Amino acid sequence: MGTENELKDLIIPDHVAIIMDGNGRWAKKRGLPRTFGHRQGCTVVERTVEDAARIGLKYLTVYAFSTENWKRSEDEVGALMQLFRYYMVRLLDVAVKNNVRVKMIGDRRRFPEDIIAGIDRLENDTKEATGLTFVIAVNYGGRDEIRRAAIKFAEDVKAGRREASEEFSEDDFSEYLDTAHMPYPDLLIRTSGELRLSNFLLWQLAYSEIYITDLYWPDFNRDELINAIKAYNKRNRRFGGV
Ligand code: IPE
Ligand code: IPE
Ligand code: MG
Repeated sequence: MGTENELKDLIIPDHVAIIMDGNGRWAKKRGLPRTFGHRQGCTVVERTVEDAARIGLKYLTVYAFSTENWKRSEDEVGALMQLFRYYMVRLLDVAVKNNVRVKMIGDRRRFPEDIIAGIDRLENDTKEATGLTFVIAVNYGGRDEIRRAAIKFAEDVKAGRREASEEFSEDDFSEYLDTAHMPYPDLLIRTSGELRLSNFLLWQLAYSEIYITDLYWPDFNRDELINAIKAYNKRNRRFGGV
């Protein structure tokens, strides 16, 4: 168990985003079906939300299901849907206990109706919380998000609510993204050693610091979160300046 002391001299990033990868490999290493990895991964999500809230992050965003993950077997996708159903209920509990506001990004319209209702409820029942904002990316793709934002913008222009002029800024555009009103991630963590973005937050990660760990997501823990924050503290963010 870590102490407050070890955090004392660290700058805590406002927003940490995580690509939770490696559930399947974690299970395979143990001779278990991939879905066991997903189940263990959900437990680690709960713990990480609590750790993030205690450490004092303002935003934690996790990548739970991509627009490309529908390509997986019917069995695996079905098992993931079942896990969402189950963990949305548990998460409500964790969120309420820890003063956490939950938000989902991604295109939820593709999910079964009961899951959409569960997402709406989770957001609604936690919207007054003042602690950590926990953002879950489900049926999320960075390209898809930008495409949907462009459609919303075009609709506003057509309806006369917006003008498509040079005055329309990057900040104006970002308000059409699912992450409207959220700060961009300061730090991106990817587990299981892969060196790619896999279509996560393409617009928002433009200047984020990146930390890759070889741990599989089900083995991720508070110590590794602190290691990532320590590494972040050694970075020199320049945003294109000098
Ligand atoms: C991440 O683990 C969870 C999801 C993408 C839903 P994976 O399922 O991608 O696990 P690996 O990468 O195959 O080990
Ligand atoms: C990224 O992991 C998506 C999530 C963690 C939800 P993937 O396992 O889908 O990414 P690739 O296929 O290795 O790029
Ligand atoms: Mg993977």
